[in-house]
Amino acid sequence: MNEKFGEIKQEIVDGIKGLQSSKAVYEFKKQFLDNKAGKIGLLMKEMKNIAPEERASFGKSVNDLKEWAQARFAELDETMKSLELERRYAEEKIDVTEPGAEEKSGNLHPITQMRNEIIDVFSGMGFEVVENKEIENDYYNFTALNTPKDHPARDMQDTFYLSPEYLLATQTSAAQIHTMEAKKPPIKILCPGKVFRSDDDATHSPMFHQMEGLVVDKKITLCDLKGMLDEFVQKIYGEGTTTRLRPSYFPFTEPSVEVDVSCFECGGKGCKLCKGTGWIEILGAGIVNRKVLANCGIDPDQYSGLAFGIGLERVTMLKYGINNIKLLFESDIKVLEQIDNN
Ligand code: DAH
Repeated sequence: MNEKFGEIKQEIVDGIKGLQSSKAVYEFKKQFLDNKAGKIGLLMKEMKNIAPEERASFGKSVNDLKEWAQARFAELDETMKSLELERRYAEEKIDVTEPGAEEKSGNLHPITQMRNEIIDVFSGMGFEVVENKEIENDYYNFTALNTPKDHPARDMQDTFYLSPEYLLATQTSAAQIHTMEAKKPPIKILCPGKVFRSDDDATHSPMFHQMEGLVVDKKITLCDLKGMLDEFVQKIYGEGTTTRLRPSYFPFTEPSVEVDVSCFECGGKGCKLCKGTGWIEILGAGIVNRKVLANCGIDPDQYSGLAFGIGLERVTMLKYGINNIKLLFESDIKVLEQIDNN
């Protein structure tokens, strides 16, 4: 019997050496200490074959072996568990000082950013935003704006007609008529919108965005227009930028002006962007034609107005140095990522 005790002990001592985890310790321990099938437990069943006078000492020896084995396994289990914990700590270690992964968030489209910026500037001056219509009828888009059917100025815009009467808005200027029909002066509105023309090259797209401005009140003059536009270009292109008005022609304004902004690239000295002139053309504007006021039931002897139309693609391209309008429509992430004014 003593031999058997020795064998079991040796088996435990040898077996323990190869154990790598607390789970393996548990499984190995079961082979010896399991109540029913464990090798040490089974020794007790030998009791009946033992001479009665040796039974007490046999029982004690089995118990000693059991205690010894339990102690060995408990010790080993503890070491394994603490090793495992250390391993886990090492694996799951977090460097709280490490900078986090950069999170990329989406941007508003450059045109939307520009639209919001312009709305901000003019809201600050008391302008109210109104919606434009993408489908207009001929009267609002042209006739009421002093551009009757046979007017040569209709050729300035290549119109998409939907029917003899309806068309895709070629300009946001129709908002002037809708507004003046709906309310009486004082009027101060801004109308952002999509407009459509059959035109397509590096600086033109069949669909683009405009922002119409209209102010009607007593004694509105070109000075008011210049003051507002100066403030606008300073906010968009930076302090120190200014505007210059050049005579032009639009049927719905008289006088009409083309507005140039002083070159924000060279400060007016002359560079590639301004083609050496120090000025860049950005928008059309003027004093609302008396006929347009009269068409809307506003007395031109009492009231006067100013109007302007900003091409959003144009001002955006200038601001970010984009030379092809298609870049604003292709949604190339590499381009969009560079333009974030949010
Ligand atoms: N509607 C003009 C265009 O699309 C732009 C414009 C010019 C609007 C002068 C105006 C204005 O309100 O006064 O070319």
